[in-house]
Amino acid sequence: MARRKKIYEGKAKILYEGPEPGTIVQYFKDDATAFNAQKKDVIEGKGVLNNRLSEFFMLGLSQIGVPTHFIRRLNMREQLVRSCEIIPLEVIVRNFAAGSLSKRLGIEEGTQLPRPIVEYCYKDDALGDPLVTEEHIAAFGWASQQDMDDVLSLALRVNDFLSGVMLAVGIKLIDFKIEIGRVYDGDFQRLVVADEISPDSCRLWDIETGRHLDKDVFRRDLGSLTDAYSEVARRLGVLPQTAPTKPTLIN
Ligand code: TMP
Repeated sequence: MARRKKIYEGKAKILYEGPEPGTIVQYFKDDATAFNAQKKDVIEGKGVLNNRLSEFFMLGLSQIGVPTHFIRRLNMREQLVRSCEIIPLEVIVRNFAAGSLSKRLGIEEGTQLPRPIVEYCYKDDALGDPLVTEEHIAAFGWASQQDMDDVLSLALRVNDFLSGVMLAVGIKLIDFKIEIGRVYDGDFQRLVVADEISPDSCRLWDIETGRHLDKDVFRRDLGSLTDAYSEVARRLGVLPQTAPTKPTLIN
């Protein structure tokens, strides 16, 4: 079999050249990292769960008219996506205080915010993805004002969609991170939700118990990460068929 061309290997995914021009294959690894890869582990099955969950969220978004890079899932660990130019920002939307916001502003985790707060971090591992303002984004030319208007509106639509989907299965969407890409259709550029949406990039708390069902389980050593992600997948009805079905005996 011909060897595929690897385009990029990140902490949780590998990107390969896709079968047609303008496409990319995203391979979801089992690697988990936190604190800019200072903490690392391999968590069997995480890649399979994130591939499924990201497919579920991206398909749902396109069904409500939010453009994404997702084309189709190829197998347990891979999905075909449109190749795009990633805007070098992590776009974070927060509904309740947690994580770095709680630390930075001294707000207790779980406190409801007066409105969704959108933050931008400059994607640069060497710098630890620092928080930046729209002033930096405009001055350094990472995105235009038009791009930023579109990024904000996409981020808030994703927030409303994900909050509703999660609420329906008893989960509170505390915050999440997305990445936005530019795709070109002839002379036109448009923005799409890219990368992945999974419990690696969201904070998800059980509404009843407050149990963490996201990567904080790994960051904070709160138990089994696969149990937490499987619980999210199970509630959303997207649990992968892991065990082969038992053969039926025919008399
Ligand atoms: P933070 O509170 O650590 O800034 O994280 C905010 C959200 O962004 C949270 O849902 C986790 C997600 N996130 C990522 O997806 N990647 C990252 O590298 C970091 C630091 C956070």
